[in-house]
Amino acid sequence: MLMGFMGTGKSEVGRRLAQRLGRAFVDTDRLVEERAGKRIATIFAEDGEPAFRTLERAAVAEAAGRGGPVVAVGGGAVLDPENVRCLRAAGVLVYLTARPEIILGRVGKGSNRPMLRDDPRAAVVRLLAERGPVYAAAADITVDTSERTASDVVGEIQRAQGQVRLQHEP
Ligand code: S3P
Repeated sequence: MLMGFMGTGKSEVGRRLAQRLGRAFVDTDRLVEERAGKRIATIFAEDGEPAFRTLERAAVAEAAGRGGPVVAVGGGAVLDPENVRCLRAAGVLVYLTARPEIILGRVGKGSNRPMLRDDPRAAVVRLLAERGPVYAAAADITVDTSERTASDVVGEIQRAQGQVRLQHEP
């Protein structure tokens, strides 16, 4: 279960991790878009953020309930405690982080990222400050993805997951 801020590499890392494990990959943002039949930016513009969060909650429950796939959730998903409960029941929560300037470089103009539409730099700084403690509290494993390749990050996740499993063995 991969979570963390926008631009920390959740989708790319998730795809590669799933490949390496021979499992399916589900990105809840894509699931929301499939179910709604429109892009995230359009959902925000036409229906508003609360409507998006409702769709996101359903997508998280659906993805986590499938039992097996590697799941990456959108950057705001774990702000909802129900989503955290759902994800935790389905697996280890991996928190991907990156420094703000790295995030800004990766999200680019962010045309499909409504949370960063007006002033991306100010939004990244503000949202990171608000959300950082929430991500950290939900995380079983934290991996900094700044200046690292996706396959390097995948390797670290696999090593850390092995440690978490060992700790939980009787
Ligand atoms: C959001 C992050 C996005 C997407 C939506 C809202 C957020 O996902 O779910 O635009 O609130 O941080 P990514 O983190 O995959 O960009």
